[in-house]
Amino acid sequence: MAAKRVLITGGGRGIGRAAALRFAREGAHVVVAARTSGELDDVVAEIDAAGGKGLAAQMNVTDLGSVEAAVWRATEFTGGPIDVLVNNAGVFDVVPFEKMGHKVWSKIIDVNLTGAYYVTQESLGALEDGERPVIVNVASGAAKRGFPGNTAYCASKYGLKGFGDALRLDLADKGIRVVTVYPGATDTTIFDDVEGEWDRASMNTVDEVAEVIFGAADAGDEVTDLDVAPPA
Ligand SMILES: NC(=O)c1ccc[n+]([C@@H]2O[C@H](COP(=O)([O-])OP(=O)(O)OC[C@H]3O[C@@H](n4cnc5c(N)ncnc54)[C@H](OP(=O)(O)O)[C@@H]3O)[C@@H](O)[C@H]2O)c1
Repeated sequence: MAAKRVLITGGGRGIGRAAALRFAREGAHVVVAARTSGELDDVVAEIDAAGGKGLAAQMNVTDLGSVEAAVWRATEFTGGPIDVLVNNAGVFDVVPFEKMGHKVWSKIIDVNLTGAYYVTQESLGALEDGERPVIVNVASGAAKRGFPGNTAYCASKYGLKGFGDALRLDLADKGIRVVTVYPGATDTTIFDDVEGEWDRASMNTVDEVAEVIFGAADAGDEVTDLDVAPPA
C-alpha cells in the first residue's frame, strides 16, 4: 500500500502529535503544522523514528497568508496530493458568559472554526488529487451538549460539526469524505492555564483519541461521525 500523505494542524503536541505518530507507524508522510516550531521539529524527529517521514510547517491557522504558505510547503513535500487532512488545531477556555469579552470569543472562534475553513479551503486542490481523500475534523463532546463557561468553545465546536456536515455534501461529487471526531476530556496541555478542577487521571489518553482519528481515515464511506469511547 502506498504511504499516506497526511497534514495535521496542531501537530506539535497533544492529540495532534499522537495522531501524527499513529500515521507515522504505518509509514505515512506526515506534515505537522502549528505556531511553535521547536515542538514541530521534535515531532518530526519522532515521526522519522517511528517509520514515517515528517515535515514541520509553521502555520497560524487564523492567518490566511500563513496557511497558504504552509499548505504550499506541505504539497511540495508530498509531491502534490494530500490524502488525509486533520483539522485539529484548537484552543479552549472556560469563561462565564458575563465575563466573555470579544477578544476571548474571537480567539476561540477564529482558531477552532475559521481556522478549519482556511486550511480546508487551501488544501482542497491537493485533496482532490489524493488517494481516497478524507478531512477529519476534531470536534469535541462540546459539539453535542453545552457546558458552563463554554459559550465560545461550544459555539466553535457545534460550528465545526455543522461545517463538516455541509462540507460533506459539497465535496461528495469530488470523492472527498468528511468525518467529525468527538473526543471527551483528554489529558493534554489544553487544560494547563484554564481555571477549574481537572482530574487529568480520569481523562482519555491522547493515544486513544489518535486511534479514532487514524480509524477515520480508513473508515467506510458511510462513516460521518466518530465518538471516542470514555476511559474504561
Ligand atoms: N484535550 C481535550 O480534552 C479535548 C477534548 C475534545 C476536543 N479537543 C480538541 O482537540 C484538539 C487538540 O487539542 P489538544 O488537547 O491536543 O490541545 P493542545 O495540547 O493544547 O494542542 C493544541 C495544538 O493546537 C495548536 N494551535 C493552537 N492555536 C493555533 C493556531 N492559531 N494556529 C495553529 N495551531 C494552533 C497548538 O500549537 P501552537 O500553540 O504551537 O500553535 C497545539 O499544537 C483541539 O481542537 C481541541 O479543541 C481536545
